[in-house]
Parts: sequence; C-alpha cells; structure tokens
Amino acid sequence: MAQSSLSLQTTELHISSTQFVKWCAKEFQWKDLSEDVIMDIGCGVEMNCCKAVLTQFPDVRALIAVDKESTVFEQAHFRDKELISCVGNILERDSLKMHEGKMNKIISTNTFHHIDDKEMAFRNVYRLLKPGGEAGFLFVVNSWLYEFLTDLSELPKYSAILKGALPENLYPPDHGNQYYKEMLEKIGFKDVRAFEEEQRFCFPTDECFKG
Ligand SMILES: C[S@@+](CC[C@H](N)C(=O)[O-])C[C@H]1O[C@@H](n2cnc3c(N)ncnc32)[C@H](O)[C@@H]1O
Repeated sequence: MAQSSLSLQTTELHISSTQFVKWCAKEFQWKDLSEDVIMDIGCGVEMNCCKAVLTQFPDVRALIAVDKESTVFEQAHFRDKELISCVGNILERDSLKMHEGKMNKIISTNTFHHIDDKEMAFRNVYRLLKPGGEAGFLFVVNSWLYEFLTDLSELPKYSAILKGALPENLYPPDHGNQYYKEMLEKIGFKDVRAFEEEQRFCFPTDECFKG
C-alpha cells in the first residue's frame, strides 16, 4: 500500500510539473529557447520538471538540474545530452556561486514549501538570474492537514495519540500569494505575478492515505 501511495504521489508530481512548464511557456511566451540556459531547483529523482522542459523545448541550449541531495543524481535514470547535474542547496549561496548571473530562466516545482527560509532562497535565485531573466515557482502555500489534525486532537478518542505529536504548521494562513508577491518585489523581482489555486487530491482508498 505504501508503494501505491508513493506512485500516486509520483504521478501527481509529474502532472503538476508538466502543467507548470506549459503554464510558464504561455505566461512568459517561451518559444525558441535555443539560446537559453534553464535551471531547475529541487529536480528530485524523477526530474519531472527537466523532462517537461526537454519535451516541450527539445532545442533548449542547456538545462541545469539542481538538488541538495547528491543521492538524487545517483538514483536518477533520466539522461539527456543537454542535462547538467549539479549538487547545490539554494539556501547556500556558495554552493551555486559558479552559476550566478548566468541563468536565463529558473524554474522550481514542488520544492519551495520544503524550504524554511524562503526569502533567502528567493534572494539566491535572483542572484543566479541574468539581467532580464525569468523565474517560475510552484509550491504549496496551504494545506488542510494541520487544521484536520488539530481538530482530531480535540476528540477524546485521538487526543492521547496526538498530544504533543502535532507537526508544526508549515503554511501560516497569512503566507498566501500577496505575501510572496511582496517578498519577491522587495528582493528586486519585477513584473511579479502570483496566483493561488485550490487542488483537491482524493486518495482512492484509506490504505493509500495511510501509506
Ligand atoms: C518533492 S521533490 C520535487 C521534485 C520535482 N521538482 C518535482 O516536482 O517532481 C523536492 C526536491 O527538492 C529538493 N530540495 C529541498 N530543499 C532544497 C534546497 N534547499 N536546495 C535544493 N534542493 C532542495 C529535495 O532534495 C527533493 O529532491
């Protein structure tokens, strides 16, 4: 069951990355990327975003796949002549210093909600971009999970189990699209567009949810 839950998540990540690259292409009017170097931050083992870029833009000049975990590149099966693997942590400026000011485009899917200090990460992205470069981030800003667990912990049946075990709420309610728009503008990003969209994910069975 854990396996089927895992493959469901993998499929979800693949779909969302593909759709996000399409969305960026439309929003930023990407057509000919033969002169462009693109960086994917938090590429993950499946390299969903890199695959989506290479499928939609096979002529891209170069694609730099970045992940803070070196094991990602040991386990990844995806290879392409334009793909450059790079172990780097977007929170650690020095780990990506050699790429500063050289990226035409930076893209990141399903990664920034794992990063505590988002302002530092966005600042480092800004440093990596060429003047006039573009960046697109897709990440979770809210989840019902924390509210659900809080309500559950108030029921006598579950309070003993959940007492002191509630995770930190990673999605403060005031950290929505406007909050991140202002953060990016403060850093120096221009023409910032921020959107929130609700996505419901239905687990087909209870076992999949538990997995
Ligand atoms: C959920 S996966 C997303 C993978 C892929 N982008 C996708 O949408 O399918 C998040 C990845 O981000 C990486 N990551 C997390 N924090 C990072 C950081 N500070 N710098 C670089 N990579 C990071 C993790 O190691 C993990 O591989």
